[in-house]
Amino acid sequence: MPQIHPKTTPIYQTSVFTFEDLNDLELYFEQPTQQYMYTRYGNPNSDELAEEVNRLEGGAGAVATSSGMSAILTAVLTFCQSGDHLLCAEEIYGGSAALLSQELTRMGIAVTYVPSDSLYTLVDFVQPNTKLLLAETMSNPLLQVVDLKRLAAETKRTGIKLVVDNTFATPIITKPLSLGADMVIHSVTKYLSGHSDVTAGVVVAGTAEDSERSKQIMRTYGLNLSPFESWLAARGLKTLKLRMRQHCANAMAVAEFLEQHPNVKQVWYPGLAQHPQHELANGQGGGMFGGMLSFRLKDDELKTVNAFMQALQHIPFAPSLAGVSTSISHPLRTSHRSLSPEQQQKLGISLGVIRLSVGIEDTEELLQDLGQALDKV
Ligand SMILES: Cc1ncc(COP(=O)(O)O)c(C=O)c1O
Repeated sequence: MPQIHPKTTPIYQTSVFTFEDLNDLELYFEQPTQQYMYTRYGNPNSDELAEEVNRLEGGAGAVATSSGMSAILTAVLTFCQSGDHLLCAEEIYGGSAALLSQELTRMGIAVTYVPSDSLYTLVDFVQPNTKLLLAETMSNPLLQVVDLKRLAAETKRTGIKLVVDNTFATPIITKPLSLGADMVIHSVTKYLSGHSDVTAGVVVAGTAEDSERSKQIMRTYGLNLSPFESWLAARGLKTLKLRMRQHCANAMAVAEFLEQHPNVKQVWYPGLAQHPQHELANGQGGGMFGGMLSFRLKDDELKTVNAFMQALQHIPFAPSLAGVSTSISHPLRTSHRSLSPEQQQKLGISLGVIRLSVGIEDTEELLQDLGQALDKV
């Protein structure tokens, strides 16, 4: 067979690796990072993905996981065991809240939700057995931006770890570890892979010790990412920076357009001067505000939302986000449907709130489609 030097990493679609003899196997156990044995323990494709995200986030080590949910599970289990308590920012992805409230509580890990206005004064929430606080850099769907430096100062002061879900911001906009966070997780399903064709996650640790522990959890619980999904995600990651620039530029243009439209009542986008954390977002994101925004239709009614969705010609309704093509979602009926009416009202999520995941299409095309659909409602 001729010598092969591929420019890109091949897909190591194998569940197991072979050894010459027992001496060779011993070498693996002596230096497991120099060889592979079994894909659940490690695979070149998932390692390539993890190492690249680790580099982007400035971490001490990372591990790829089968989904964003398994990344959150891995992060929690890195720091917590039965009998422990954790804190979670009140505005958090519904799936994360379900994992904490419905599943981890059954394993003896208690959770308390911290309202946004108490996030920087945790003393009343921290108990002797509290191990960590989980927060998102930008919340869904109203894009509240968390001051990570301030939050990290508070978690350090109260002696707990800070775990940040950086899915919405990406390391192109914010690097939480550099601001004092202890661990970062991503739903790689979103911007990092970027093409709406992968379900994956990643955990990036701030210390080698936490990285080792999170890898151990991934292996033992079987939370690994398959070689093909890892390869797809690593491929998507190569264009992350370019994509994010266009996502951000388009989202800014769309936010300004929606703000002026007579059929739109309110727009939430951190890039707009009237957003409550605009200054913070500007500093923390280096002038980039992300590709997600939400808006409330003037007519806050279900039939108007449906009419708007039906009138759109190129933008589909898809309850996910962060792909290269724009999509809309409806928080009340998707991500936030399990909240009580009181919680929905408290957060300000009414029927007419629509979330837009702004893609990387030509800006004019986007504005044209949104404009013609809004004119019809
Ligand atoms: C902010 C955030 N974190 C985590 C997740 C879970 O990720 P996954 O669907 O890849 O498991 C999601 C999913 O939408 C999310 O939006």
